[in-house]
Amino acid sequence: MIPHVGTGQTVAKIILLGEHSVVYGYPAIALPMHSLKMTARVEPVRGGHNEGTLTGLGWSGPISKAPAHFASILRAREVAAEFVGDPDGLLSITTESEFPAQRGLGSSAAAAGAVIRAVLNAYDAKATAHEIFTLTQEAETIAHGQPSGLDAVTTSATSPVHFQAGRTTDLGLPLDAWIVIADSGIHGSTRETVGHVRSLYENSFRETQESLSRLGKIAEGAVDNLRSSDISQLGIKMTESHGILADLGVSTVQLDELVYAALDAGALGGKLTGGGGGGCVIALAHSYEDAQRISDAMREAGARATWTQAPLLNEVVA
Ligand code: MEV
Repeated sequence: MIPHVGTGQTVAKIILLGEHSVVYGYPAIALPMHSLKMTARVEPVRGGHNEGTLTGLGWSGPISKAPAHFASILRAREVAAEFVGDPDGLLSITTESEFPAQRGLGSSAAAAGAVIRAVLNAYDAKATAHEIFTLTQEAETIAHGQPSGLDAVTTSATSPVHFQAGRTTDLGLPLDAWIVIADSGIHGSTRETVGHVRSLYENSFRETQESLSRLGKIAEGAVDNLRSSDISQLGIKMTESHGILADLGVSTVQLDELVYAALDAGALGGKLTGGGGGGCVIALAHSYEDAQRISDAMREAGARATWTQAPLLNEVVA
């Protein structure tokens, strides 16, 4: 089959509760951020010795010269090309993202998922959600080692997701609160922080197991809070989780300061989101006015950028 230009889209994700513990089979709750999009476009390479180009993250050049951090995108193209039955097909790739990479917002899973969808689209190929998830996981493995699958699922979800041991339940519940995301401006390496927790787990098993289990219990308990729209309790759980994640050593001084600034400004709760070691903090707010105040406070405390997501509307307003 001759491919045509194909496009694919995914979104950023935030983990409301349960990062790191999810790697050990505990439940987590994550949200797609529909207002922060990742788009991929693939274009067949026609004729000559042209191998195709890659354009994204401020870099553009021949695919064979792409820097190492593009490895999972290239793997995404490869596994999708194998899936559609054209493993040698040459495609140029362009990715465009409305959110930064390496900040715990799921950029690598989102990019891999968007490229896979773009390749499928270029070949008019159909795939089930589970097949796309499996392909995304294959690409993600290059970026993260052994990802739980939470990022791959959430970056294409439609509502808050409950995820445990590879099983996803789309909760179908809106989150009736404002969310402020604040970027510390510092790269966080999920591979490194997951490796750090793994070494704690191996060397101080009992304490680490206890912390991971608490994180899992908190995440599970939050499902009821979401159902009853008890966002005050949800906020309390987020702050408690941040403390446990900090004790596990995956927070940073900057992330802690952003959480304190959000709480001082009236946030219902705040925590790091994603792998940590840098990246972003999320805070929960009752109203638009509260969200604005919290956003301002986090910027004053050093956030490089903030995004505010409205309840139900999924709209970036700042
Ligand atoms: C990364 O966004 C979330 C982690 O729990 C890793 C994973 O789930 O694979 C830290």
